[in-house]
Amino acid sequence: MKLTIALLAGDGIGPEVIDQAVKVSDAVAKKFNHEIEWKPALTGAAAIDAVGEPYPDETHQICTNADAVLFGAIGHPKFDNDPSAKVRPEQGLLKMRQKLGLFANVRPTFTFPSLIDKSPLKRDRIEGTDLIILRELTGGVYFGERGRLNHGNTAFDTMTYHRFEIERLAKKGFEMAMKRNKKLCCVDKANVLEASRLWRETVQAMEKEYPEVEVSYEFVDAVAMRLIQWPKGYDVIITANLFGDILTDEASVISGSMGLMPSSSLGSEVSLYEPIHGSYPQAAGKDIANPLATVLSAAMMFDDFGLAKEAQAIRDVVNKSLDQGVVTEDLADGGKACKTSEVGDWLAKNL
Ligand SMILES: NC(=O)c1ccc[n+]([C@@H]2O[C@H](COP(=O)([O-])OP(=O)(O)OC[C@H]3O[C@@H](n4cnc5c(N)ncnc54)[C@H](O)[C@@H]3O)[C@@H](O)[C@H]2O)c1
Repeated sequence: MKLTIALLAGDGIGPEVIDQAVKVSDAVAKKFNHEIEWKPALTGAAAIDAVGEPYPDETHQICTNADAVLFGAIGHPKFDNDPSAKVRPEQGLLKMRQKLGLFANVRPTFTFPSLIDKSPLKRDRIEGTDLIILRELTGGVYFGERGRLNHGNTAFDTMTYHRFEIERLAKKGFEMAMKRNKKLCCVDKANVLEASRLWRETVQAMEKEYPEVEVSYEFVDAVAMRLIQWPKGYDVIITANLFGDILTDEASVISGSMGLMPSSSLGSEVSLYEPIHGSYPQAAGKDIANPLATVLSAAMMFDDFGLAKEAQAIRDVVNKSLDQGVVTEDLADGGKACKTSEVGDWLAKNL
């Protein structure tokens, strides 16, 4: 297969972790006889510095012409520490999600056999966890009407959802559940929020199309608790943008490190693959960040191309590196830590 992939490295550790995902993807492509053409493009603070805006039109063109987008991370302390900055890297992220129509963020949560005891949660609670959180990404309170009233002393953000936004996300959720353990949980706050009541109504109306899927409805506050008490109780979770943002970070604790968790954002035309972590500026340029979240995001990309063996080969070699202690300092427990680039080289070589 010939693939064209837009490469948006971004800021901070973005370029370093992306480099490793490229090495690993090229090694897998070579092994299975595929050809990847990488198309680098600017985003985030790097794009603001170069051309004055965080998601330039040229970058958008490169993304829409590609088969997929591999994304590092964006964000820089000079913007984080300046609340008055008019142009910010995060605006690029929201603009990119909106312009590419990336309506569903898929975050798998699973454990790595050799890392289970590194989790702050007890082994018997988390061993065998295998769930997916499907977060709505282009609607809800992050995109609703907002503003200030009363001379700046009152602020509001509006959670707005349209039925079609809920339907397209729920459809993905039902389809994923059908390929997995056939359980879907709709997480909302329907006892209080009207937008959540529309979520429930919409998902309930879709149940009859998927009679094999067991559907449950739970309130987000209860799920925040149950997710770490008994994560094995969940298969596929669908939820609104804000709730998903919070629950997915909580779920990352189950796996052990922010540096391990991949994600994909599904769009109608092109999909994007990115680690769940940010630009971790303290580590930028030091060659110490964990590249595995980005490498595993590339595995999700191969899966979505229908290249399951290629995806599994990446996951297998990642597990092998963890078993053999070829890890960056976040997982080294004070023992020998490898550099980011050494982990990437080892993975590519062992593929
Ligand atoms: N999607 C994105 O691009 C995205 C997501 C979140 C935050 N951000 C941005 O990133 C910047 C830093 O934000 P933050 O500090 O809240 O989040 P962060 O994810 O960058 O870092 C939080 C902590 O997680 C750990 N961590 C993260 N990535 C790691 C890796 N690859 N290897 C090992 N440990 C890792 C580190 O301990 C780090 O201190 C901000 O500018 C923020 O806006 C961007």
